[in-house]
Amino acid sequence: MSNSLYSNLNAYIKNSRNEFEEKLATLVNIPSISMDPERKGDIQKCADTAVEFLRGIGAKAEAISTKGNPVVVGEIITDPKNPTVSIYNHLDVQPANPEEWNKAPFTFDKVGDRYEGRGTTDDKGPALTALLATKYAIENKVPINVKFIWELEEEIGSPNFESFVKANKNRLKTDSVLVSDTIWIARGKPAVPYGLRGLQAITMTLQTHAKDVHSGLVGGAARNPIGELCDVIAKCYDANTGKVKIKGFYDDVRKATKAEIGSFVNSGFTTKGYQKAHELKSIRKNLQSEADVLQAFMSLPTFELHGIVGGYAGPGVKTIVPHKAEAKISMRLVPNQKPEKILKLVKEFVKSVNPDVKVNAEHALQPYLGEFGGVYADAARTAMKFAFGKEPAFTREGGSIGAVVTMQDNLKCPITFLGLSLPEHGYHAKNENYDWGQTSGGIKMFVKYFEEIAQLKK
Ligand code: BES
Ligand code: MN
Ligand code: MN
Repeated sequence: MSNSLYSNLNAYIKNSRNEFEEKLATLVNIPSISMDPERKGDIQKCADTAVEFLRGIGAKAEAISTKGNPVVVGEIITDPKNPTVSIYNHLDVQPANPEEWNKAPFTFDKVGDRYEGRGTTDDKGPALTALLATKYAIENKVPINVKFIWELEEEIGSPNFESFVKANKNRLKTDSVLVSDTIWIARGKPAVPYGLRGLQAITMTLQTHAKDVHSGLVGGAARNPIGELCDVIAKCYDANTGKVKIKGFYDDVRKATKAEIGSFVNSGFTTKGYQKAHELKSIRKNLQSEADVLQAFMSLPTFELHGIVGGYAGPGVKTIVPHKAEAKISMRLVPNQKPEKILKLVKEFVKSVNPDVKVNAEHALQPYLGEFGGVYADAARTAMKFAFGKEPAFTREGGSIGAVVTMQDNLKCPITFLGLSLPEHGYHAKNENYDWGQTSGGIKMFVKYFEEIAQLKK
């Protein structure tokens, strides 16, 4: 089988390019922003289009409704005796500010081999790459069953994914899960992550009086809620080093082992390349080695301040004492930290520092730690090497994908990450993009992976 399977693959990839670009354009032109309540219509349109795409390759497919956004599912059962792989992607996207972009964010553009637009790399491009690979594998009789799970609430922390999985356990039965929603170290430096950070998001709010008042009248006497929030935050963490000062915060952190750190360092990562890809002019001074930087975003928790709202933010300086303030914060968590315990620690700590500050819980995600080795990791290694000429490094991802822990807990099967995004593709950033090199290599990678895991005993 193998020889004929691969003899036509390059031609197939070449001939599929138009179809890929058309489908990606169709999806990118639908602003499926899960964070924006006004985009419910676009979410539905995106789900309907996705169902059509799945049916187009011969899958049985539908959009299953939840209390929030629907989940698109599809399946191609070649033979119940064959092993089943379930491919997870998400089709919802982050918002985009058109003023920051070089182009309209929700209008697909092709510039040479580069595809531009919100969602091209996170995660519509990788989803369609896997779709086209599946089409080829099935047409060429790879003995595997394929299921698709395309979520539309990933970017808001997957609030309804668990109830969806629990309500559809039979339909979702599978031997393994393949997630394509992660990034490489750099172009030419593939990575297969085996862990994700979790999250506890919060807001801190403080209202000290009824309205903004002239600072010539009350300044000196009145409390300043923005200032007090800043004080609380400074007591929570050292902004220069990132070190969290809340008592007990690090207690449950499972330290990365020597072998893990070795694997991170051998990924081909350079601090210089990392700074360039993300346009970071400088980074925290206490991070001296590559190993320090890698651990800081892969295997250590964070306390991050995303925004402070309050007071006057218009042009010039308006001399008022603000009456309320809000800080938007999240903590990235690592194994074996628990969001519930961290939330409790933060609440108690803030109460002890400033009892008037309210800590409100936002979304929470458990951290994920999977297998470093095993037959699926071997298949991933073989597939990446086959498609991209280089073995992947096994790393941990600093980001979070809420659905993963839910699938681990409920589907009880191995989960493999075969991502295709690159740092310069700009996850969540302005001018997000994806490219044909990652697509064409990605199709090859998935086909090889399917063939490898089709051989595994059920
Ligand atoms: N694809 C990312 C997850 C990711 C980020 C993987 C960085 C590898 C590196 C995913 O779409 C994402 O952005 N997740 C959010 C979830 C949050 C909004 C609950 C995240 O990590 O911030
Ligand atoms: Mn994503
Ligand atoms: Mn994302």
